[in-house]
Amino acid sequence: MAIESSCDETAAAVVKNGREVLSNVISSQIELHKLYGGVVPEIASRKHIEKINQVIEEALDTAHMTLEDLDAIGVTYGPGLVGALLVGVAEAKAISYAKGLPLVGVHHIEGHISANYIENKDLEPPFLCLVVSGGHTHLVIVRDYGEYQIVGRTHDDAAGEAFDKVARAIGLGYPGGPKIDKLSREGNPEAIAFPRARIEDSPYDFSFSGVKSAVLNYLNACQMKGEEINRADVAASFQKAVCDVLVEHSMQAAKDFGMKKLALAGGVASNSTLRAAMEQACARRKIACYHPSPLLCTDNAAMIGAAAYYEYQKGVRHGLDLNAVPNLQLG
Ligand code: KG4
Ligand code: ZN
Repeated sequence: MAIESSCDETAAAVVKNGREVLSNVISSQIELHKLYGGVVPEIASRKHIEKINQVIEEALDTAHMTLEDLDAIGVTYGPGLVGALLVGVAEAKAISYAKGLPLVGVHHIEGHISANYIENKDLEPPFLCLVVSGGHTHLVIVRDYGEYQIVGRTHDDAAGEAFDKVARAIGLGYPGGPKIDKLSREGNPEAIAFPRARIEDSPYDFSFSGVKSAVLNYLNACQMKGEEINRADVAASFQKAVCDVLVEHSMQAAKDFGMKKLALAGGVASNSTLRAAMEQACARRKIACYHPSPLLCTDNAAMIGAAAYYEYQKGVRHGLDLNAVPNLQLG
């Protein structure tokens, strides 16, 4: 069984042999945080405490299991909000202690990457993975299970963060990614030329603060001139600018590192434009393209279970001194 509580989802799942999901329960706090336009850490921690036992019970019931049937407990111990992480870590430690079960701490991003194993039974390392979530934007070479080499990262905002900020600026609310995705279908992605940032000497790195500022400047300029803003065109043009860069840098890395498989991971991996553009670019270069279904792209515990299984197989065991590490590094 695995537990995830790093941000605003309280989640528990039972996973068999790393790839078969027997249950995947997610209690989302989005409605609560919407009121504040983003995640409020203190509220997140309190809600996790309220929900965690219920979520675990439901995960076990759905899998027709009790704690006695489990082989190990996996849990996200970083990165994330410290108070939120602590709830999951304390719960996992308590179950591990009470039932004498091995405890396996998992890196949240390793979980996102491992979500790809669940529905793509043929996917094995090595492969290139573009991790695009609310807090991270990384290009990672997955050398083997649990072996990661980060070749590119964002210098400022994460891709999901840019989606959320632009969504807020055009009045769509939180979380912005899915709303921009939807509104973009009615807009023209070529309507406004937003910048595609390149970082000198780092072809696989990203920067999204420029495109975000360009959108804000565009909105301000329209307002000053009293021009009406076509929100769908803004959303579609912004989304295209972000996706172009994500695809282009991924293709460059795939070529330079000789990767024949590419996987998408993280919340933004459920973006329909990104998926379509990446699939097309991969097909042209005869690269196999993988992505989890939308439910497994955003935070969930099944992906943590998949990652924990491979860590467990490698012999990783954590003690009861396992702590939450808010800035845990991958690799
Ligand atoms: O991976 P995730 O659930 O949480 C983190 O670990 O950060 O990612 C959440 C992020 C949010 O920024 C959200 O706006 C974005 O993923 N997101 C999307 C879409 N669905 C979620 N961004 C673009 N298009 C989507 N369809
Ligand atoms: Zn996440």
